[in-house]
Amino acid sequence: VKIGIVGGTGDIGEGMALRLSLFHTVLIGSREEEKAYASSEECIGILTERGVECALQGVDNQEAVDASEIVILAIPYKHLVGTLQSLSGFENKIVISPVNPIERSDHFYHAPPPEGSAALLIRKMLPESAKICAAFNNIAANRWRALDDPLNYSVAVCGDDTAAKRTVMDLASEVINLKPFDAGPLAAASMVEGITPVLLNVAKFNKMRDVGIQFI
Ligand SMILES: NC(=O)c1ccc[n+]([C@@H]2O[C@H](COP(=O)([O-])OP(=O)(O)OC[C@H]3O[C@@H](n4cnc5c(N)ncnc54)[C@H](OP(=O)(O)O)[C@@H]3O)[C@@H](O)[C@H]2O)c1
Repeated sequence: VKIGIVGGTGDIGEGMALRLSLFHTVLIGSREEEKAYASSEECIGILTERGVECALQGVDNQEAVDASEIVILAIPYKHLVGTLQSLSGFENKIVISPVNPIERSDHFYHAPPPEGSAALLIRKMLPESAKICAAFNNIAANRWRALDDPLNYSVAVCGDDTAAKRTVMDLASEVINLKPFDAGPLAAASMVEGITPVLLNVAKFNKMRDVGIQFI
């Protein structure tokens, strides 16, 4: 499967690219193709040094959408609308949103749009045939990048298209120790997004790092 990562040069994008490119062709997308190229070369270097074969390429964000069956929107919430307005071609694609609308005062809190969640905002903006799933919202980028460590976390996946949700859950299961769980329809994504500020507050107030979740 070809996976395109819009904003793939960022923390979560590169982290996911490092793990997913062992199993699939990953296109790291960026607003600037040169930046995407540099990012993909860096990831190839890291993986090659470890003796791991990978399939990675740097492209601009539009190419990451056009050339892929699965598109991950790895962009900060505040740039989500502008980015989606600048891109096209999402028809029939599986679109994964790890996007968390979070704000910060003396603590972190969920600050969703009127639609209820970033995932539902994406649903509203993209064509009807795009299959949106919220997933990977609750795993810290540092954990994706720590390639020596298995990812001992659960992944809550929300979506309205059963086959697309299955595909996303299968994708998650390929990564060592990640365990996907069906977390319901896209309407339930607000609660999955809302877990992340809880994790950030637990980390902050307990002097922990990269806190995650397991459903057991
Ligand atoms: N970081 C985490 O631990 C984590 C964990 C779970 C979920 N998430 C979610 O994943 C998403 C990405 O987080 P991140 O930490 O990876 O973000 P990030 O590193 O701050 O940014 C990701 C990418 O977004 C692009 N970008 C920056 N400004 C932009 C703009 N004005 N317009 C369009 N694109 C812009 C950049 O790519 P180019 O400059 O190459 O275009 C950047 O590399 C967020 O929604 C976050 O809530 C993050």
